[in-house]
Amino acid sequence: MKRIEAIKEKIEDLRDNIRYHERRYYIEDNPEISDYEYDRLLRELKELENSYPQFITPDSPTQRVGGEPAEKFQTVEHMIPMLSLDNAYSYDELIDFDTRVKKGLKGEEPEYIVELKIDGLGVALIYENGILVRGATRGDGIRGEDITQNMRTIMSIPLKIEINSPSLSYIEVRGEVFLTHQGFETINREREDRGEPLFANPRNAAAGSLRHLDPSITASRPLDIFLYNVSYVRDPIFKTHLESLQALNRLGFKTNLNTLFCRDLQEVMHYVEVWREKRDDLNYDVDGLVIKVNSLEHQKILGSTTKHPRWAIAYKYQAEQATTRIEDIIVQVGRTGSLTPVAILKPVKLAGSTIKRATLHNEDEIIRKDIWIGDTAIIEKGGDVIPKVVMVIKEKREGDEVQFKMPDRCPVCGASVFRPEGEVVARCTGSACPAQLKERLHHFASRTAMDIDHLGPAIIDQLVGKNLVKDVADIYSLDLATLTSLERMAEKSAQNLLNAIEKSKDAGFQRLLYAIGIRYVGERIAQIISHGYSSMDDLMEAKREELESIPEIGHRVAESTVVFFLQEENRRVLKKLKDAGVAMHKKREEKREDILKEKQFILTGTLERFTREEAKEIIERLGGLVTSSVTKKTDYVVVGRDPGSKYDKAKELGITIIDEDEFIKMTE
Ligand code: IVH
Repeated sequence: MKRIEAIKEKIEDLRDNIRYHERRYYIEDNPEISDYEYDRLLRELKELENSYPQFITPDSPTQRVGGEPAEKFQTVEHMIPMLSLDNAYSYDELIDFDTRVKKGLKGEEPEYIVELKIDGLGVALIYENGILVRGATRGDGIRGEDITQNMRTIMSIPLKIEINSPSLSYIEVRGEVFLTHQGFETINREREDRGEPLFANPRNAAAGSLRHLDPSITASRPLDIFLYNVSYVRDPIFKTHLESLQALNRLGFKTNLNTLFCRDLQEVMHYVEVWREKRDDLNYDVDGLVIKVNSLEHQKILGSTTKHPRWAIAYKYQAEQATTRIEDIIVQVGRTGSLTPVAILKPVKLAGSTIKRATLHNEDEIIRKDIWIGDTAIIEKGGDVIPKVVMVIKEKREGDEVQFKMPDRCPVCGASVFRPEGEVVARCTGSACPAQLKERLHHFASRTAMDIDHLGPAIIDQLVGKNLVKDVADIYSLDLATLTSLERMAEKSAQNLLNAIEKSKDAGFQRLLYAIGIRYVGERIAQIISHGYSSMDDLMEAKREELESIPEIGHRVAESTVVFFLQEENRRVLKKLKDAGVAMHKKREEKREDILKEKQFILTGTLERFTREEAKEIIERLGGLVTSSVTKKTDYVVVGRDPGSKYDKAKELGITIIDEDEFIKMTE
């Protein structure tokens, strides 16, 4: 075999191997190899594809995220309309459904399949000759949006399936894209860090992520999918819905395993009861069950109305609700000064717990729902989401209710409140606001920031309450005597806390940059900025244009960073941190000092983020060597824009070629 063919084969083997492990990990939740080994395989494939770009195909596991942000999505017509489901809210309605089905089948007994009704977004995927060629939203059922680029970023959607029969050469499958509770919380935490409005629930967050115009944003969100229907195949090869689900599974699609075969309605109803409570234990939202006639022949006989299939129905669980009085509406202050109104309720039992508060999101929401203090309200709790006010019962008003008004002064510090034009969130402008300070301290000490173990909310409350800490830098002047004077603080805990504080001084530039709480600078942005600057002093003097020239740093981040460093108060706190001995420069990862030991590098072409000199310095600091001509001994060739003949030479010799991003990853 020619060398080039052997390479092509190697690339294809690697891809199959990676696809296999992705399936074990993302679909079967049963990985066989470590993340590290998986990364190594993927890196090997990337390196080969970089050297032999002629072999890159769109279905390669390396090609999930690509394409420029779209201006808008194209509209696409569905091959077969995406109908919605008729709903049942009671057993009576289920019995009616069963009766209609039996009547339609002229007395033949139907079997049913019961599935969880996932609370996400319905989508359709088309595979042509085993390759994913289109992904679309449901839209109005007739036309949806072409979101192929975004769907490709969802790791549990295969880009390629193994088809074993010609009837599968063109296939459309449907399913529900959703976010787990954990995924939802992560996204909201990041949004909070950036001072952006939060998503109200996992479904909205999934919708916002799936329909984002920039596929790289979608890729950063942990979206997932369950497939529940084969909507089109050339020749129908399954006889029942259950068989089609099994086929989906064999083809490498993720299907929900809580699906049950039921011989009759009695069994269906039993299953409805089982899941009424059990659904709260799942880590994604389920708003009901879907009951489907199993036989495809029966489905055909029953047909559809213009809106719903007659062979399926959704049994919707009612979100548990309770009625109570809104005794007060208070305003909570977040780290960035955001003011969130919260309803204080007359305590009421709901879904097994006593509820005393409900979130009201923001002022506009209160106006929209016309919520007054003293109103009788219906509150609701779905899944494990925070209770919310569904509506108020205006008929129960007695005349002494009071309309809520967002205060124009911060309820905690008294500074003025500002709501920028076009934003829904009002903010406290006080730089010394104790509520903001507590949140800032909490963020500063958090695990992904300075990682100060033992500095929890109870201690922060006392430190701020007793005026012992007025800014984040004051943490570093705490001593044993002060700490042991706090409530519930024994000497041992105080010493542990002091040790943790001391240790955090070495957290390094990147963590500190995230910890000081610049608006819009979350963990990822801090990482990107820290590539370009070696210390806080460097960054403090950075001009806006300079920051904006870093890929991925936009106008908003650049602006808020520059503004942050212009503020006298922030400069003062940073100086205090520095004087206290907090490291203000990049961390030297001693352990990793020689990760490139004796590796020979060639640099060719123009690099975007380093000068040659800087790249050389990094390589040498890590124990590597930069040479000037490509030989068999060369280990890596780093290619920038417009590479020279060294690139061709390296390809010829089969030397690993990496681009700037990979170089950064390697040396991080
Ligand atoms: S079957 C023609 N199965 O619920 C029947 N739908 O209100 C097509 N959904 O638009 C739907 N889980 O987005 C089906 N196991 C499941 C489902 C499910 C969630 C969604 C789907 C549909 C909506 C209907």
